[in-house]
Amino acid sequence: MDCKLRNINKKTIKDIDIYKKTILLRTDYNVPLENNGHISDDIRIKESIPTLQYLIKNKCKILICSHLGRPNGKIIPKLSLLPISTRLSELLNIPVKLKNIEDICTPKKETTQITMLENIRFNKEEEENNLKFAQHLSSFADIFVNDAFGTAHRGHASTTGITKFIPSVAGLLFSKEIDILNNLLDTPQKPFTAIIGGAKVTDKIGVLDNLIKIAENIIIGGGMASTFIYTKSLPLNNVQFDNKEIKQANLILKKSKEFNVKIHLPQDIIIGKEFNENTEFKNVKSTEVKKDELIMDIGPKSILEFQNILKNSKTVLWNGPMGVFEWKNFSNGTHKIANYLANLNEITTIIGGGSTAEVFGKLNLQNSITHISTGGGATLEFLEGKLLPGYAALLNN
Ligand code: 3PG
Repeated sequence: MDCKLRNINKKTIKDIDIYKKTILLRTDYNVPLENNGHISDDIRIKESIPTLQYLIKNKCKILICSHLGRPNGKIIPKLSLLPISTRLSELLNIPVKLKNIEDICTPKKETTQITMLENIRFNKEEEENNLKFAQHLSSFADIFVNDAFGTAHRGHASTTGITKFIPSVAGLLFSKEIDILNNLLDTPQKPFTAIIGGAKVTDKIGVLDNLIKIAENIIIGGGMASTFIYTKSLPLNNVQFDNKEIKQANLILKKSKEFNVKIHLPQDIIIGKEFNENTEFKNVKSTEVKKDELIMDIGPKSILEFQNILKNSKTVLWNGPMGVFEWKNFSNGTHKIANYLANLNEITTIIGGGSTAEVFGKLNLQNSITHISTGGGATLEFLEGKLLPGYAALLNN
């Protein structure tokens, strides 16, 4: 991993003069919405509040820009930022006006302190990183502040393009995420245990490949555990696996010996007959899974074994659930591990965003652990050791 590249120190809003300036603030308000349009998890909105408060305190005029979903350059009314501007207004207790890009001329003349641009991805130029569009965006402000850590892996007009035209710095959330994740990779307190779950090895191979050089223990859960179990030549002979996945698992197992890292696989598993919420299920030894059975969760022995490893760790990073946690019958492994981690003292626990973050939100355990990253793909790419374009584009300190 190129630590030097990743660790370049970027300027934040605290390093420049922002007093009474007009700010274009890029946030990641790509939050999950229920069918009725209600926000089901507002952590990304709440985490942007410190930056907003800092800007408000400095008497800035603020134009917020975010995306929601993937409208592919078209106006999709159900992806409007209206519920988000309403929620933000409630949290800040000041009005937040939502406006279409055509209606913005000079935010300096806006009567309210905060204006929110309608979903920036309604414009096809955004994802194309069209520089004319980026320049147009930059014409609204004196300074660009990027606080959208969750979008840092995208090189779009409102994340990298705009930085070519006006001074661009990180917001407080963005810099907090970078600092925490840098510390995790560079100076973790040992022993360091990574819990990696999810459906496919392919999705996590980059993270595994990087963490194997840093961690003492890697716990593997979720559907991808079956590939590792098979690859370790336990008699799961009848299970069909994608060849590429087996090769990747094999590579990780080999590297774990080279780097002296213990890979912990579940010893028992909850299997289901079909992939549905109400399918019949039972607990079996992981070596006994048959061809037509699906891995839905880790079993009670695995939970105890994994908890024991966590108890003896000083740093834990968790990315990817242990099973199909969205379904009650298969949430036990993920929930038990989450509750256990939340109750451990003197341990640094970092939750690597995405669905693992959702688990902590649902269990209301957000305040019982060190940090929940607001990034999904961005956090994964960071943990893979990649340079994030949205970060690289900001002013060096
Ligand atoms: C995310 O939720 O990971 C970010 O908002 C990026 O969204 P995207 O994958 O649609 O670019």
